[in-house]
Amino acid sequence: METRDALWFILYVFFLIFFQPSMAIDTISLNDSISGDKTIVSSKENFKLGFFTPGKSSSSSSKYYIGIWYNKISVQTVVWVANRDTPISDPSVSFLKFQNGNLVLLNESRFPVWSTNISSKPPFGSLQATIQDDGNFVLKDGSITNSSKPLWQSFDFPTDTWLPGSKLGRNEITKQTQHLTSWKNPEDPGSGHFSLELDPNGTSAYLIMWNRTREYWSSGPWVANMFSLVPEMRLNYIYNFSFVETDTESYFTYSMYNSSVISRFVMDVSGQAKQFTWLESSKNWNLFWGQPRQQCEVYALCGAFGRCIENTSPICSCVEGFEPNSNLEWDLKEYSGGCRRKTKLKCENPVSNGDRDRFLLMPYMKLPDLSESVPVGNGGDCESSCLHNCSCVAYSYQNGQCATWSGDLLDLRQLSQNDPSARPLYLKLAASEFSSRKKNTGVIIGVAVGAAVGLVIVLAVLTFILLRRRRIVGKGKTVEGSLVAFEYRDLLNATKNFSHKLGGGGFGSVFKGSLSDSTIVAVKKLESVSQGEKQFRTEVSTIGTIQHVNLIRLRGFCSEGSKKLLVYDYMPNGSLDSHIFHNQNPNNVLEWKTRYQIALGTARGLAYLHEKCRECIVHCDIKPENILLDDQFCPKVADFGLAKLFGREFSRVLTTMRGTRGYLAPEWISGVAITAKADVFSYGMMLFEFVSGRRNSEQSEDGTIKFFPSVVGKVITEEGDILGLLDPKLQGNADVKEVTKICRVACWCIQDEEVQRPSMSNIVQILEGVLEVNKPPLPRSLLAFSDSQEHLVFFTESSSSSSSNQNSKTNSSTPSSQTKSSTSTTNS
Ligand SMILES: *[C@@H]1O[C@H](CO)[C@@H](O)[C@H](O)[C@H]1NC(C)=O
Ligand SMILES: *[C@@H]1O[C@H](CO)[C@@H](O)[C@H](O)[C@H]1NC(C)=O
Ligand SMILES: *[C@@H]1O[C@H](CO)[C@@H](O)[C@H](O)[C@H]1NC(C)=O
Ligand SMILES: *[C@@H]1O[C@H](CO)[C@@H](O)[C@H](O)[C@H]1NC(C)=O
Ligand SMILES: *[C@@H]1O[C@H](CO)[C@@H](O)[C@H](O)[C@H]1NC(C)=O
Ligand SMILES: *[C@@H]1O[C@H](CO)[C@@H](O)[C@H](O)[C@H]1NC(C)=O
Ligand SMILES: *[C@@H]1O[C@H](CO)[C@@H](O)[C@H](O)[C@H]1NC(C)=O
Ligand SMILES: *[C@@H]1O[C@H](CO)[C@@H](O)[C@H](O)[C@H]1NC(C)=O
Ligand SMILES: *[C@@H]1O[C@H](CO)[C@@H](O)[C@H](O)[C@H]1NC(C)=O
Repeated sequence: METRDALWFILYVFFLIFFQPSMAIDTISLNDSISGDKTIVSSKENFKLGFFTPGKSSSSSSKYYIGIWYNKISVQTVVWVANRDTPISDPSVSFLKFQNGNLVLLNESRFPVWSTNISSKPPFGSLQATIQDDGNFVLKDGSITNSSKPLWQSFDFPTDTWLPGSKLGRNEITKQTQHLTSWKNPEDPGSGHFSLELDPNGTSAYLIMWNRTREYWSSGPWVANMFSLVPEMRLNYIYNFSFVETDTESYFTYSMYNSSVISRFVMDVSGQAKQFTWLESSKNWNLFWGQPRQQCEVYALCGAFGRCIENTSPICSCVEGFEPNSNLEWDLKEYSGGCRRKTKLKCENPVSNGDRDRFLLMPYMKLPDLSESVPVGNGGDCESSCLHNCSCVAYSYQNGQCATWSGDLLDLRQLSQNDPSARPLYLKLAASEFSSRKKNTGVIIGVAVGAAVGLVIVLAVLTFILLRRRRIVGKGKTVEGSLVAFEYRDLLNATKNFSHKLGGGGFGSVFKGSLSDSTIVAVKKLESVSQGEKQFRTEVSTIGTIQHVNLIRLRGFCSEGSKKLLVYDYMPNGSLDSHIFHNQNPNNVLEWKTRYQIALGTARGLAYLHEKCRECIVHCDIKPENILLDDQFCPKVADFGLAKLFGREFSRVLTTMRGTRGYLAPEWISGVAITAKADVFSYGMMLFEFVSGRRNSEQSEDGTIKFFPSVVGKVITEEGDILGLLDPKLQGNADVKEVTKICRVACWCIQDEEVQRPSMSNIVQILEGVLEVNKPPLPRSLLAFSDSQEHLVFFTESSSSSSSNQNSKTNSSTPSSQTKSSTSTTNS
C-alpha cells in the first residue's frame, strides 16, 4: 500500500515537472475570476492575460488595466487592453468575471467598467473564456463542443496591435470597420488620436487618420498582391498578407512565412504604423517598416500651436509666445495636448493698457488647414483684416492670396527653404511678447545679459578661429557656412600648378594638393559648369552642409569666372576600383569582411543622401571609382550633388561617359524621370563586382562576352553554388550567407521596374541583418541577355560612338580601361 502511494507521488511529481505547460490554466470558467496578481497563460505559453500597469511615473503607476502580453518576451509588450479608457486603481479588489452572460470587469466598488457586451444571452452555466496561443482571447459556450464561431473574441476589438492571424477590415453590411488606435503615450493605453483602418468608403486601401476624421496616409489599394503605395512590400519575405472580399466582409489578414518569427503590427503613439519583429539575440523589437516615413507628416502631431521640425529632438516645440499645456505629457512625448498662449492678446482684454497686438513672421511653414480666404488687395490689408478681428490668430499673404485662421492652429510644420509648399505665416501675439526681455523681471534680464555676453564671447572665439584658420589656410578669402572659399591662385600653389593628377572624367579632373597648414586635399577642377555664380554658390553650400561618415566631405570651393573648383578631403586609400579590379598583389586582397563593410557603408551613405537630407539627392553616378576609402577602409561616397551643379549638361555627360556605362539604370536610356532608384540600380551593379572581383562585363578568352550579373542571376534563382561566383583571389574565404545576401540584394537592385527595387534604407537593414531578403525574380534584362546579346543596349552608352558589343567588353580587360577606370575619380 505504502509503496503504491509513493509510486503515485513520484508519478505526480513527474507529471508536475514534465507536463507543467499543460497544467497552465488558460481559461476563465463561469465561477472563476481574475483579480490581483492572478493571470492565465495560453497552452503553449505564448501569451498571458491579467492586470498590468504600464506606468513608470507616479501619476500613471496607480492605473491598472486588463491586458494581454507576450509571455516569453523579456520586455513586457502589451498587445491588447480591455479597459483602455477606464483604468482601475486596485486590482486586488477588482474582478474580471462572468456576469449575466458577459465577461465583465468590476472596479473597486463593484461597478462594471468594461464588458464584452454581447446582447444574445447564451445558456447560463457553460461559458468560458480562453486565451489562445495566437493572442486571441475567446469567449465560447463550452457546452457546444464544435462551435467554431466564438460568441466574442478580442481579435474583433483590437487595441493598437494587429497580430498575425487576426483580421482588420470592414463589415460590408454595417460599414463598420475595425481599427487600430494608438495609445495616448507609452504609459497610457487610453485611446490616442491616431488610428488605422480599412478605407470606410470601400476601397482596399488602409488609411491612417487623425481623430478618425482627417486622413494623412494611405497605403493605396491592393493591386497584384501589394499595396500600390507601399512598394517596399515587394521585398518583404516575412509577412504573408492576403485580402479577402466577400459579400458580408472585406478584410486583410497576415501570417508569418516563418511561424517562429515573433512579429506585431502597431499603430504607434508617434502616429506612424509600424511593424516590428522580435530579435531574441538583442532582446529588442526591431523596426521592420514604418509609415508615414517622415515623423512630421503625421497630422497635428504637435497639437495646437505646436510646431513639428523633422530630425530635431524633441520633434515638437511650441511656437514663440506659447508653452506646453502639460509639461508632464510633453515629457512622455505626448504632444497632442498642444500649447497655450503665455500672454493674452490685447484684443481679448481691451481694458488692459498695453500696445496693440503684433505679428511674428514664421518663414517657410506648411500652412494649417481650414483657412479662410479674405479678398484684399495687398499684404497690409491682409494684416489689418486679421488685426481687427479678434478671433483671427494668424494670416498668410503670398501672390495676392490672403488667408486667415481662427481658433487653434493645427499641423504647423517647419519646411525647408527650398520646399515649394513653404509659405510665410504671421502669428498674432501680444505686443509684450516682442519686448519681453526689456519688460520682464531681473532674472530674465540677467539671462538676457548673460546670453548677450556669451554671444560676444562666442563671436570673439569664432572670429579668432576663423582668422586663425584663414591665416593657416592662408588663402581662404571668405568662409561661407563651414566652407572655405579659396582663391584660384592659392589652389594653383597648393596643387603645384595642378601637377599631381589623381583622376579625371566627364566632370573634370582631380588633383592632389597640400594647403599651407599641410592638410592634404583633393582638388576637383570642374568642366563646363553652366550655372551662374549665385546658383553655383547656393548649390555648393548645400553640398557643404551634407555630412555623413560615409560621404566625402567638401572643405571648400573656388569660383572665379569660369574657374570652378571643389576642394575635398583627401582619401589615402584611393578609390575602390583600384582595390577590386587592379590589385594583383595576393597579399593585399580586399577581404570579404571588408567588402561587406564597404557595401554596408556605401548603402548608409546613399540612404542618407536619399532620405535624410532636406531634399532627396540622387547621386546619379554610383560606381567603384566614386567610392573612396579612408585609411581604415571606411567607404566614402564621392561626387554627390554634381547633378544639380551641372544641370542639364549632367545627363548628357553621364550617358556619354564611357566609365559609367555598365552602372546606368535602364531609365537613363528610356528617358523617364530619374529617381533615387537609379542609384539603387547602379549600387546593385557594383555589388556584383564586389563578389566577382571583376568588371561585370568582360571578354573571356574565347572571345565571348560574359555578363556576370546574368551568371549570378541564374545561380541565385536556381540556388546553385554561390561560392563558385566568388572572386578567385579570395580563395573561398567568405561567409556563404553573406555572399548569398549580397547576391540577392544585387539582383533586387537591378530589377527592371523601379518599384521592385528596394530603397537604400531597406538595403541597409538587410545588410545589418535586421531584415532578411528573399529570393529575387530574375530581372527581365538579364533574361533577355541570355537570349540575345542585343539587349546589352541597356548597359551601353546612348551616344553612338562605337558598337555596343565593343563597349561592353572594354572594361579592365583592355589597356584603355585603365584610363577609363581612373576617370572621374574625385580624388586619389
Ligand atoms: C458555479 O457555482 C454555482 C453556485 O455557486 C454552482 O451551482 C455551479 O455548479 C458552479 N459551476 C461550476 C461550473 O463550477
Ligand atoms: C467605479 O466606477 C464608477 C463608474 O465609473 C465610479 O463612479 C466609481 O467611483 C468607481 N469606483 C472606484 C473605487 O474607483
Ligand atoms: C453595450 O452595447 C450597447 C449597445 O449595443 C451600448 O449602448 C452600451 O453602452 C454598451 N455597454 C458597454 C459597457 O460597452
Ligand atoms: C457539430 O458538428 C456536427 C457535424 O459536423 C453538426 O451536424 C452540428 O450541427 C454541429 N453543431 C453545432 C452546434 O455547430
Ligand atoms: C469618402 O467618399 C466621400 C464622398 O465621395 C468623400 O467626401 C470622402 O472624403 C471619402 N472619405 C475618405 C476617407 O476617403
Ligand atoms: C474630432 O472629431 C470629432 C467629430 O468626429 C469632432 O467633434 C471633434 O471636435 C474633433 N476633435 C478635434 C480636437 O478636432
Ligand atoms: C499565404 O497566405 C495565404 C492565405 O492565408 C495562404 O493560402 C498561402 O498558402 C500563404 N502562403 C505561404 C507561402 O505561406
Ligand atoms: C525561422 O526563424 C527561426 C527563429 O528566428 C530561425 O531559427 C529559423 O532558421 C527560421 N526558419 C527558416 C526556415 O527560415
Ligand atoms: C473674423 O474672422 C473669422 C475667421 O477668420 C471669420 O469667420 C469672421 O467672419 C471674421 N469676423 C469679421 C467681423 O470679419
